[in-house]
Amino acid sequence: MSTSTPPTVVSSYDAPFYPAPRTCPFSAPEQHTAFREAGGLHKVTIWDGSQHWLATRHEDIRALLASPALSSNIRKPGYPEFVPHHSERAPRNIINMDEPEHGRLRQMLTREFSVKRTRAMHDDLLKITDELIDDMLAKGGPVDFIQDFALPLPSMAICLVLGIPYEDHALFQRMANATTDLTFSPEERLRLQEQALAYYADLVERKRREPGDDLVSRLVTEHGGTDGFPAELLPQQLNLLVIAGHETTANMLGLGLLALLREPGQRENLLAHPELAASATEEMLRYWSIVAAAPRRVAVEDVEIGGQLIRAGEGVVFSLISGNHDPSVFGTGEDECPADKLDIARGARNHLAFGFGVHQCLGQNLARVEMQIAWPRLFERIPGLRLAVPEQELPFKLDSVVHGLKSLPVTW
Ligand code: HEM
Repeated sequence: MSTSTPPTVVSSYDAPFYPAPRTCPFSAPEQHTAFREAGGLHKVTIWDGSQHWLATRHEDIRALLASPALSSNIRKPGYPEFVPHHSERAPRNIINMDEPEHGRLRQMLTREFSVKRTRAMHDDLLKITDELIDDMLAKGGPVDFIQDFALPLPSMAICLVLGIPYEDHALFQRMANATTDLTFSPEERLRLQEQALAYYADLVERKRREPGDDLVSRLVTEHGGTDGFPAELLPQQLNLLVIAGHETTANMLGLGLLALLREPGQRENLLAHPELAASATEEMLRYWSIVAAAPRRVAVEDVEIGGQLIRAGEGVVFSLISGNHDPSVFGTGEDECPADKLDIARGARNHLAFGFGVHQCLGQNLARVEMQIAWPRLFERIPGLRLAVPEQELPFKLDSVVHGLKSLPVTW
């Protein structure tokens, strides 16, 4: 392994804060763009005052996320913690495991989220989409698209996958909020986590007794702790699936709709060419790059990436939006806000919105199908769909772990 002198970095006291708020809701934080243009990795400070390397270029992000020298294990010294006590309290789940343990668990879950299995859900998801649209139409505009459509669709979808009654969604929503909203106290977060884990442990028992045609039933009947699947780890994996699949997709549904509402040319192109739904979804994922405070890693051996020597024990954080707006890969726009150009025909398959490497989003196919169905269907069924407030009044979550809109008032 080569070792070289690291490029000049910002001094420890004035290292900027991570995650950085977006000044323009459509663009990467200005500081991240400046770092990307300067090249190399840069030091940033997180909430506890500790400093970590920030990657902003597409090439560096991919190389780092693919490197076995970086660990996802939150319990390793030097890991950039999300929130106080995270490392000691977070349940052991797939997202914070390393190989080979991660790979074993992932293999068992991957089948459940394969392209084939998620495509087979198409008709069910279309039905849910239509019912939510029916409800919005019956209510009459203006409605809050986030509450009335964007949150329930992914909730219902994940309930369908796991075989959970949708009536229990208030619990997941609170739990998902507690994970992504940094204003929750550590005690409240722990209380909700314990409540959620107890719920999933009970669910596993119920499915063991009365299996159905769902992920939990298949995991308990096909693996059941006898072939290396650690059965006691099942409740935390279910908790993670619900949290990870919930607010992320909801935020994307809201932001994607907004993008289509403000750019009539893109919307007309999508409606005239329904075959663009897949490409439009990739472009929306790239354009918005909603995951703002992750991934996070810690080096377990010295490694040089992006011209920077990262020493064992040093943390690394990522600006996925900066990588996804890297002009050397996507050749984006010149305006100030949005700094980037939306092009639903771009075919942005190599974006990083779902991460990269072994931990790349497990639920990406499910999220994709939900979006591919929802946006065209909304305009097909509600051709007059439009914003119910001026765009400047929209409440963006500019400093959230996952970027999104607090509400999106629409009418028709
Ligand atoms: C638009 C929606 C979504 C976005 C933008 C998103 C983004 C991400 C990202 C960036 C990662 C990588 C984290 C890392 O490397 O540390 C990830 C991992 C993960 N996501 Fe998603 N996600 C979305 C939807 C979903 C859905 C619908 C599910 C489940 C139903 C899900 C489940 C997971 C899981 C389990 C992991 C961890 C995978 C592993 O560690 O092997 N996500 N997601």
